[in-house]
Amino acid sequence: MIKKIYVIGSSNTDMVIKSNYIPRPSETVIGGDFFTFQGGKGANQAVAAAKLGGNVTFICKVGDDTFGKKSIEEYKKYDINTKYILKDIREHSGVAFIMVDRNGENSISVASGANSKLKKEDLYFLDKKLIQNDIVLMQLEIPIDTVEYIIELCSQRNIKFILNPAPFQKISDKFLKKIDTITPNMIEAKSLTDIDVFDLESSKIAAQKLLRKGIKNILITMGDLGVLFMSEKETLHIKPKKVTPVDTTAAGDTFNGALVAGLSKGMGMIKSVEFANSAAAFSVTKLGAQDSIPSINELKIKF
Ligand code: RIB
Repeated sequence: MIKKIYVIGSSNTDMVIKSNYIPRPSETVIGGDFFTFQGGKGANQAVAAAKLGGNVTFICKVGDDTFGKKSIEEYKKYDINTKYILKDIREHSGVAFIMVDRNGENSISVASGANSKLKKEDLYFLDKKLIQNDIVLMQLEIPIDTVEYIIELCSQRNIKFILNPAPFQKISDKFLKKIDTITPNMIEAKSLTDIDVFDLESSKIAAQKLLRKGIKNILITMGDLGVLFMSEKETLHIKPKKVTPVDTTAAGDTFNGALVAGLSKGMGMIKSVEFANSAAAFSVTKLGAQDSIPSINELKIKF
């Protein structure tokens, strides 16, 4: 039976300018193209999981404004359960300003708004809702106390908890050891371990340190170097897919959403990582966050 996925995290509206290069401080660059997309790491991961076949409930907090309303409408289009999305009447919905250069690299600044008000008290109802068969996926674009509360809850109930530690916030070893799977990129892996992570070998050293902290499965996403998977039993390097990047925004989110979709359908860890690797590669060939995430059919055709 397909497991239920709970994604708890941020929802943003992304204002994107694609131009030749990203301006330096005090510089103005003209000649760019402007787009508005649905975004937010939590929302992107929820949409990825849903587009790739998962049964997804997404929990976030939005403001009482047009951005928030539009976001909820969009999530419903993907059959995401939006019943538990909260509203904060004093805050604006999350907004991200994103600059993308000609090589698809980006620079992102987020005004969190209502995301920063998603409190652990808002999630106490999950105590009665979550069951052992569920999978919970979170990121760090909301208050850390909220993330820690859910880690504790999942650990007490033996519920699979996956953390995408992006953007990095300090999280104590007391909570890290209760995480089933962690999915940092190389920068986040360095922040988590104090080890310089820049290639496969240094990723392995960082992954070993994370294993020693008590996390069961380590997945370090290394961009065009692929993905490193490490558990007590095995270490595997999943090779990158060769694609021409248009926009790398939400590649990590697509990876995480696809990973949980795979796991929820009983694909097993390695198969799910390979599936996630393909989905993330596909996403960088298109502009935008949720718009760039493939559906199951698109993925079958392209890879
Ligand atoms: O990971 C990409 C996302 O980061 C963007 O959609 C933006 O909203 C920020 O949250």
